[in-house]
Amino acid sequence: MSSSTSTISVDGKSVELPVKEGTIGPSVVDISKLYGQTGMFTYDPGFTSTAATESKITYIDGDKGILLYRGYPIDQLAEHGDFLETCYLLLYGELPTAAQKADFDYRVTRHTMVHDQMNRFFTGFRRDAHPMAIMVACVGALSAFYHDSTDISDPHQRMIASMRMIAKMPTLAAMAYKYSIGQPFVYPQNDLDYTSNFLKMCFAVPAEEYKVNPVLSRALDRIFILHADHEQNASTSTVRLAGSSGANPFACIAAGIACLWGPAHGGANEAALKMLEEIGTPDRIPEYIAKAKDKNDPFRLMGFGHRVYKNYDPRARIMQKTTHEVLNELGIKDDPLLDVAVELEQIALKDEYFVEKKLYPNIDFYSGITLKAMGFPTSMFTVLFALARTVGWIAQWSEMIEDPSQRIGRPRQLYTGSPERDYVTVAQRG
Ligand code: SDX
Repeated sequence: MSSSTSTISVDGKSVELPVKEGTIGPSVVDISKLYGQTGMFTYDPGFTSTAATESKITYIDGDKGILLYRGYPIDQLAEHGDFLETCYLLLYGELPTAAQKADFDYRVTRHTMVHDQMNRFFTGFRRDAHPMAIMVACVGALSAFYHDSTDISDPHQRMIASMRMIAKMPTLAAMAYKYSIGQPFVYPQNDLDYTSNFLKMCFAVPAEEYKVNPVLSRALDRIFILHADHEQNASTSTVRLAGSSGANPFACIAAGIACLWGPAHGGANEAALKMLEEIGTPDRIPEYIAKAKDKNDPFRLMGFGHRVYKNYDPRARIMQKTTHEVLNELGIKDDPLLDVAVELEQIALKDEYFVEKKLYPNIDFYSGITLKAMGFPTSMFTVLFALARTVGWIAQWSEMIEDPSQRIGRPRQLYTGSPERDYVTVAQRG
């Protein structure tokens, strides 16, 4: 990585800072010595211009709508690969050989069951508990069961913990769904592939044979690929920051799930579907477009806009194609929600406000329609996002832990509170 310098002037004093260049994408000005040399901090609350780390995992070009996992374009991975192959790529940096893939699939499959005492956790939840609340609780609780894989200084334990989380997320997600509908948990069936196993755990019932629909399984597997990683987004940054203190990997992933839940982030797929249902019919779209543009109205078009993409989210295009594939397979000829979504997208993409602010559909805009058609309730949408993103969080967490220069993350602030003042007794207060 070649480097040059950038000079800034602070209070008339010139300070030279190293510039680091990446393989592709923006270079960075290394400001780590700025405070020591100037007594000043930089200020960037939303991290709009801040690189918090160096990484080799995922690259996004927001202007061109490009997304690469370890250099491979997302559309090629979604077209040709499967989710566990993408997991291997994100974790180890290279596409697996046939033997490596078979071994990885086997290792993940051997960890799909959860400790049977986890079942008792569920009886403590209300049946109408949001499944994301259950996932935050249960994933965090995994560290209470797996003391043999919480020593983050041991690469072998890190690997086992990683396998366990990738393998157990579908099982816990399916349990959260089954619990919410009062049906018995379905154990994993290890002769099924990863995503087929998940569909069976969600939709099989003891009373009859369940046959996985291969078209739906392939579509969901592709949806998992699309959601697997996305550079330093809010939940990934949460996992990295939690991990920088040395917290165990299960606790770090639970923190990532909590952050993903927010409607501005992974919760947008649930919010987007609720928005489409609220709009209801295409004739009401102008009313909602006006609300989205009204500065005094907090309403936003959920599933639209992105901090990085100022072009079409490449995942949204693949998502839209998958939506049509799933609806066709299920014989859903005209889905009113899809009609509203397609019409809303066409209107928004021509509207001055959205064009000027470069607001395009993101991955969450179409995913809800697809997942609803597959039979998942809206409350499960972000759980599926978390299931898929777990491998990205783990890959990013591992990269941080393995970085020899890694230190605890500890941002500073611009203090605008009260200057020092003396205590006043209650008798002296007004
Ligand atoms: C994900 O970071 C990632 O990579 C996330 C993610 C991943 O894979 O990890 O891609 C997944 O979280 C996708 C985003 C899902 N969220 C939504 O769909 C929620 C709706 N979108 C927004 O809330 C918003 O666009 C964000 C949160 C996604 C991005 O917020 P930013 O970058 O902070 O942008 P902003 O809120 O400052 O908006 C810029 C302008 C504002 O207007 P002005 O103040 O400049 O006048 O655009 C407007 C906003 O009002 N705007 C919208 C809008 N999104 C932004 N106006 C209407 N509808 C919207 N959806």
